[in-house]
Amino acid sequence: MARQASELFEEFKELTASEFFRRNKQMLGFSGKIRSLTMVFHELITNSLDATEEAGILPEITIDLKRVDKDHYILKHRDNGPGIPEDFITKVFCTMFAGSKFRNIQSRGQQGIGCSGCVLLSQMTTGKPAKIVSGYKENGELKGVEMTFKMDVKKNQGLILEKRPVEVESTGVHIELHFKDVSYSLSEQGAYEYIRRTMIANPHAKITFRDPTGHKYILDRATEEIPPLPKEVLPHPRGVTADDLIFMAKHTDRRRFRSLLTTSLSRMSNKKVDEVEEITGIDLNKRPKDMKWEEAEKIVETFSSMDFMAPPTSGLIPIGKNQVEKGMREILNPEFAAANTRKPTTYRGGVSFIIEAGISYGGESGRIVGDQKRAEIMRFANRVPLTFDQGSCAITEALKSIDWKRYGIRDLDNAPITVFVNIVSTNVPYLSTGKQSIAPEPEILHEVRQATMKIARSLQKYIRAKKAAKEEELRSKIFETYVPVILKEAAILAGKDVPEYDHILSKVTRRPKIVGENNVE
Ligand SMILES: Nc1ncnc2c1ncn2[C@@H]1O[C@H](COP(=O)(O)OP(=O)(O)O)[C@@H](O)[C@H]1O
Ligand SMILES: [Mg+2]
Repeated sequence: MARQASELFEEFKELTASEFFRRNKQMLGFSGKIRSLTMVFHELITNSLDATEEAGILPEITIDLKRVDKDHYILKHRDNGPGIPEDFITKVFCTMFAGSKFRNIQSRGQQGIGCSGCVLLSQMTTGKPAKIVSGYKENGELKGVEMTFKMDVKKNQGLILEKRPVEVESTGVHIELHFKDVSYSLSEQGAYEYIRRTMIANPHAKITFRDPTGHKYILDRATEEIPPLPKEVLPHPRGVTADDLIFMAKHTDRRRFRSLLTTSLSRMSNKKVDEVEEITGIDLNKRPKDMKWEEAEKIVETFSSMDFMAPPTSGLIPIGKNQVEKGMREILNPEFAAANTRKPTTYRGGVSFIIEAGISYGGESGRIVGDQKRAEIMRFANRVPLTFDQGSCAITEALKSIDWKRYGIRDLDNAPITVFVNIVSTNVPYLSTGKQSIAPEPEILHEVRQATMKIARSLQKYIRAKKAAKEEELRSKIFETYVPVILKEAAILAGKDVPEYDHILSKVTRRPKIVGENNVE
């Protein structure tokens, strides 16, 4: 007998965000043992870096990864950031889509699913609770709290098991999580490489890492300079959709659509609003709530045909060419390193971004495959290493399209170099939810090529000078060896005394200096 709708709908349910991700953990990047652990490192490290940066503190992170059993690890992660107030701890770690970064601002995280994702993975693979110690200041007073909790997936909130005040020496967060079904690896996609790359793009950070074998890596900072805080920027008219406008209209306290436009968008003067009004024929003195979908669509279409000043770029903070170079020198120990930060520009007409590139040669540049050195591409977005999906990324595409032969590199894949590229933006155009590769916007491809080619030129100069110096040295050696012999034999033949020849020798065996190092202006 056919079943009625009322019966079928007895099983109708609502999923919470946590439940959704419990079933789809690969959407948080948790797929595969190595990648899962790298993503956990990523979430905790980016949070520590964001938090310290926001509080104006030089980041110091200590990570301890212990192997309890074959696939079973305990991760202890500690930072010296501002800490998390007691009342927010379970929100941060147990509620999906809760966070402080839902603004149009350049930051490493921006979805509020990082920490709670880690707690979820821990709980799903081990059933064990999470433990947090948070040191934080309240009314100038230093407080400490220790908490163990689980995540109530059905309610998308925390379930506190234990809580007690503790004495802390300073502010910061200490997280302890168990994981199974993950694996620590030294490969390019493993957790260690993630840390190393983080250090290059964040030369102001210090990370101490104890690996499962007990080996302690101390990765020291290459600079004491704390990066300036990025500022929130208003979206540019060219960067909004009809849906964005309707959303803004619903949530504004402005009385008129006109003032909503001038206060929520950048480069939107009263004159520009008049222009929109004239072109669309829509009365913009109406209340925001009365804005219809068709009207919003028409306004957005009009925006695309109007001239606007480029979006403000004051909110974007690049690493800076000196800092990138310092980071590369500290971590890769190269014989040559140079970097380049381009001026801000826009993609899709309304989203500003900055590209930075760096190249290092020799030392520990490149990666070792078998007994050969291969080129290594390090991609970053807002200082965060992108370690997966390299093949589909605009950065890789742009680098591969460069005619490297012109710069004395016969084959990019087999050169002992590391190429570094960072994209800085409030809206990095990721290709998928994993946020590991960048969309091939033509302007981004162009900027990556320009930034890289400029330093490739200085690398070429360096390699040329090095080669010339080697040849000259070889030539000098020949003189040094044979001139004395010839002089002696000639003197004997002529029946004369052997002359002083040091001054002659010094004239023909001038040792050249290598020039062309790091002369990118
Ligand atoms: N180590 C930390 N120190 C201070 N605050 C933190 C730390 N980790 C997370 N937070 C807070 O928790 C929020 C949620 O973090 P997360 O789930 O990773 O999302 P997101 O990083 O996208 O905001 C952050 O926005 C921040 O306010
Ligand atoms: Mg985060």
